Amino acid sequence: MTCQDILPDLKDWFSDYVETFLSGDSNHRRNIELKVDHTRRVCAEILDVGKSLGLKGEDLCLAEATALFHDIGRFEQYARYGTYRDLVSEDHAVLGVGVLRENRVLERLEPPTSDLILRTVSYHNRAVLPENETNRCLYFSRLLRDADKLDIWRVVTDYYTQKNGTRNETIELDLPDTPDISERVYEDIMAGRLVRVDCLRTLNDFKLLQMGWIFDVNFPRTFHLVLERAYLKIIRDTLLPSKKVSEVFSKVQSYLEKHCHSV
Ligand SMILES: [Fe+2]
Repeated sequence: MTCQDILPDLKDWFSDYVETFLSGDSNHRRNIELKVDHTRRVCAEILDVGKSLGLKGEDLCLAEATALFHDIGRFEQYARYGTYRDLVSEDHAVLGVGVLRENRVLERLEPPTSDLILRTVSYHNRAVLPENETNRCLYFSRLLRDADKLDIWRVVTDYYTQKNGTRNETIELDLPDTPDISERVYEDIMAGRLVRVDCLRTLNDFKLLQMGWIFDVNFPRTFHLVLERAYLKIIRDTLLPSKKVSEVFSKVQSYLEKHCHSV
């Protein structure tokens, strides 16, 4: 069967599966719902970016399936460890592939199609994509990573600018909200490099890492949406003004503007 044939069933399976995790206290529920809502929005973002690239039919459907399942490992991760931090639990992408296999979610698809979805899910959170992959798989992986980032930017900017001031350690990765910016994080951004999660020491570092995701964006539509939604500016405005903050912002913003104008 094709992905188009079974996408409604895949969506039903997703809803039934996440429902089993929606018990427990309100904090637990809120954190599960955060990932359910994120998934639904990544599906919408991937359709948007995918269509901008001329995808349609089976390929657009395949892209949507990768978005639907990219964070399926998050639910088991939260149930087992009570955190979304891969570094202190497990790689949620690998966990997700295990969940899809154990539940035989993709078994009605042709093996090349289900393999492509599993590989794309498994790469979505990698620091860099593997070199020994097919162009097709790398293409779907880049698309998923763009769509995922678009919504993570939305989640964090909404969170940073919310008025009620309740902290959610799950979003902040349990990092301390102190005024420091780590030298290594600052240097990575200024060199146009992605910041590594294991270098993060403070919440400010994490905000810089999020600004630096722009260096990992692949498609014109994504750059345009980031500019239009002013994500980088919003994150900058949550940091105390300083020379380092201005330098970092101008580095990422000029990279973004260059990529918007060159297309
Ligand atoms: Fe993820």
